[in-house]
Amino acid sequence: MTKERRAEIARLIEQGEWLHVTGSRKNIMQTEFYDVVEELLHRDEVRELADFTHHRMTTRYQHCLNVSYYNYKLCRLFRLDADSAARAGLLHDLYHYDTARYSKTAPAIKHSHYHPQVALEAAEKLLEMNDCERDMIGNHMWPVTVPRPKYAETYIITFVDKYCAVIEYLLPQPARFGRYVRNRIYACRHRNTKTARS
Ligand SMILES: [Fe+2]
Ligand SMILES: [Fe+2]
Repeated sequence: MTKERRAEIARLIEQGEWLHVTGSRKNIMQTEFYDVVEELLHRDEVRELADFTHHRMTTRYQHCLNVSYYNYKLCRLFRLDADSAARAGLLHDLYHYDTARYSKTAPAIKHSHYHPQVALEAAEKLLEMNDCERDMIGNHMWPVTVPRPKYAETYIITFVDKYCAVIEYLLPQPARFGRYVRNRIYACRHRNTKTARS
């Protein structure tokens, strides 16, 4: 991708005319997927997820969007209920508290067991859900949580959620490594110039 194209995309992102998921530069605003989740994406409860860091390297909003998109694509591929998969993916981590802070309070219920129930309650307030969507949100942590998924779509979201966590953590690493190398080179050059002057 050229420098100009990258700058153009950055401008469109800034203006809210370009939305992409981790692992792809495609503008998902121009896809059928976007039509399914557009209304939900504008809800305050969903937008506020952007205020929380998730999986160290991203926001909870981006993570939910990633899970929603890949869940939709995979369920569509297998001719399952892709629209429900998109909606449940977007709402599967709909909770508004800091994960690390919650765990530090040594709660009786582990975060992995607690947050799917919080997300399910919050999602019920946002839209009328079908049983498949409820199952996907409530059991997305399986097999960490005990009840077995009832729907094929739920097995898929359990995989997609973990896949997204991995790419969200790993994909920014080469950029970080590149930054680290550039800083080291700059520091060495700076030191050499100072030594030459003295
Ligand atoms: Fe989760
Ligand atoms: Fe998640």
